[in-house]
Amino acid sequence: MYSIAIDGPAGSGKSTVAKQIAKKLGILYIDTGAMYRTVGLYCLENNIDFKDEKQIDTMLQKIDMKIELLEGKQEIYLNGKNVTQKIRTQEVGKAASDVAVIFSVRKKLVQIQRNLAQGHSVIMDGRDIGTNVLPNASVKIYLDASVEERTKRRCKELNLSSCQAERIKLEIIERDKNDKNRKYNPLKKAEDAILLDTSSMEIEQVVNKILEIIKIKIQ
Ligand code: DC
Repeated sequence: MYSIAIDGPAGSGKSTVAKQIAKKLGILYIDTGAMYRTVGLYCLENNIDFKDEKQIDTMLQKIDMKIELLEGKQEIYLNGKNVTQKIRTQEVGKAASDVAVIFSVRKKLVQIQRNLAQGHSVIMDGRDIGTNVLPNASVKIYLDASVEERTKRRCKELNLSSCQAERIKLEIIERDKNDKNRKYNPLKKAEDAILLDTSSMEIEQVVNKILEIIKIKIQ
């Protein structure tokens, strides 16, 4: 059994790459960002003030989050409703980044993540996987890419025209700032993680490179 941790900023290619690797290796893919997004969605839909820790703690008791895992695919349910698609907007991404600064939210989600990873070989992506969720992961990768390249990718993913690129770029810069500077488990390369700058790499090249690393590390 082994575990692979993939961390990196928004738009660095983590989930696309991790999904493909999970399929190729026949292991579970766990998207931890989806869990923060689900909490963010609940806050938006219920007008919960991100800064009010009391409201957040009450909310955490009301949230029933279920995760279904297949090789390379994850479905997420919020109080019985499948929200896998609904959480993929920029607005929910921003809300996720905002709730992710709160300690009680992180504590609850990290526990779910560690439980999911137990007893299986997994590839898990997020911001604090190598540094906090799976500190003993067999392989740790930190993916990065320039802000310009990440903006291009996000626009393509969200089907946005180039005239919206400037707004998306600013949102990415803001999200990086939020994720890297928060107090609890900020986005940071683990000391033993391998850094890959994917700015001028095709997805297939990144996947193959990581598969090579996995092969060397897991014998
Ligand atoms: O990877 P993503 O864009 O779906 O993540 C959304 C937000 O969730 C991200 O901006 C910060 C937060 N997050 C986190 O704090 N820790 C993780 N392990 C994963 C995501």
